[in-house]
Amino acid sequence: MTILVTGVAGFIGSNFVYYYLRRHLERKIIGLDNLTYAGNLDNLSGLTEEEKKRFTFIKGDICDTELVDRIFSENEIDGVINFAAESHVDRSIHDPQIFLKTNILGTQVLLDAAKKHWNKNGEWEEDCKFLQISTDEVYGALGSTSLFTEKTPLDPHSPYSASKASADLIVKAYHDTYGMPMNITRCSNNYGPYQFPEKLIPLMINNALNHKPLPVYGDGKQIRDWLYVEDHCRAIDIVFDNGQSGEVYNIGGHNERENIYIVKRIIEILREKTGDGEINESLIKHVTDRLGHDRRYAIDPSKITRELGWEPSIMFDEGIELTIDWYLNNREWMQSVISGEYLEFYEKNYKI
Ligand code: NAD
Ligand code: DAU
Repeated sequence: MTILVTGVAGFIGSNFVYYYLRRHLERKIIGLDNLTYAGNLDNLSGLTEEEKKRFTFIKGDICDTELVDRIFSENEIDGVINFAAESHVDRSIHDPQIFLKTNILGTQVLLDAAKKHWNKNGEWEEDCKFLQISTDEVYGALGSTSLFTEKTPLDPHSPYSASKASADLIVKAYHDTYGMPMNITRCSNNYGPYQFPEKLIPLMINNALNHKPLPVYGDGKQIRDWLYVEDHCRAIDIVFDNGQSGEVYNIGGHNERENIYIVKRIIEILREKTGDGEINESLIKHVTDRLGHDRRYAIDPSKITRELGWEPSIMFDEGIELTIDWYLNNREWMQSVISGEYLEFYEKNYKI
């Protein structure tokens, strides 16, 4: 079996490639990624020689109709898992257009190619599937109680989440109109190795190690529901193989935390592990809040647990230690991704 996986050089995509090739020894991946600021081929340098034989990398854009069609023509592709996206909410607030292009039109290009190659005489090929990797942000924000279920109405607020919700609806339309076999997964906030340091956890780790201010938006009491990336990859693998076509599955780990708690915990663990007393709470700096900042996200994952047997295995206390250890052991990786472009974005976003 060969699957086309997009966004393989990003955070979750690269973690998924490792997980999938190790879990399915007979299967192959064609990885498509145009290596934006968030894509880094070094993220895949840990593949073994054997795994490399089952992995082909193609540098290219999911919006490139001709390229995507050629990939389907030249390979027997049995499934698509679409991770490729512009993924950072703050960037979408500064510059929405690329979010609409990649996240919406790119998804439609992939769907069209899949439809052309999997449905030649009005019949869908056996066992083909399109899996769209979506997010809990499409549901909007919660008050202090209740959880997002798959039945929660879509109510996205940021340009990022609006583009992801649009993509979900287009994937659903290909299922409802043409019968395309598909699933959509909607996961909560991920953390773990290879996450780009524009996101809360790696940004705080990097800044703390460099004794730089830790920019907490507003009062820091916003809540996110954290899932260790490997648990997310295992859920995706299960949905891809066993999810009932047409269904949406929420993925989350019952790990709700206030942002300020996360930042203080990172400080505590880093000080303990490095013995550096300058890493302390005086680094915390409350800064202007994100525009339209969603107050709370929390996932009800009972459908995927009940129907497909998935459960989270790594709770936050363990996952955050694993993550901090990874960043401490991979400081060159951090240095290599903090390029001029990152510093430019940092300056613009935090107005330093
Ligand atoms: P990321 O920003 O780390 O990686 C995105 C990858 O997509 C990069 O390698 C980038 O080069 C590639 N890419 C961007 N535009 C492309 C294009 N036009 N053509 C080809 N490749 C392109 O993102 P991530 O955090 O790994 O997220 C992956 C997916 O998971 C996204 O769809 C995101 O919406 C979803 N998601 C993320 C989280 C999270 O907490 N990070 C949670 C739920 C869902
Ligand atoms: O919920 C899933 C989503 O999680 C994914 O769909 C997105 O791709 C992913 O980026 C993530 O979105 P968030 O906006 O929740 O993640 P981020 O790490 O940017 O922010 C987490 C919380 O921390 C959020 O409430 C904003 C806050 N924050 C973030 C940064 C970068 C700060 O207070 N300061 C910061 O500097």
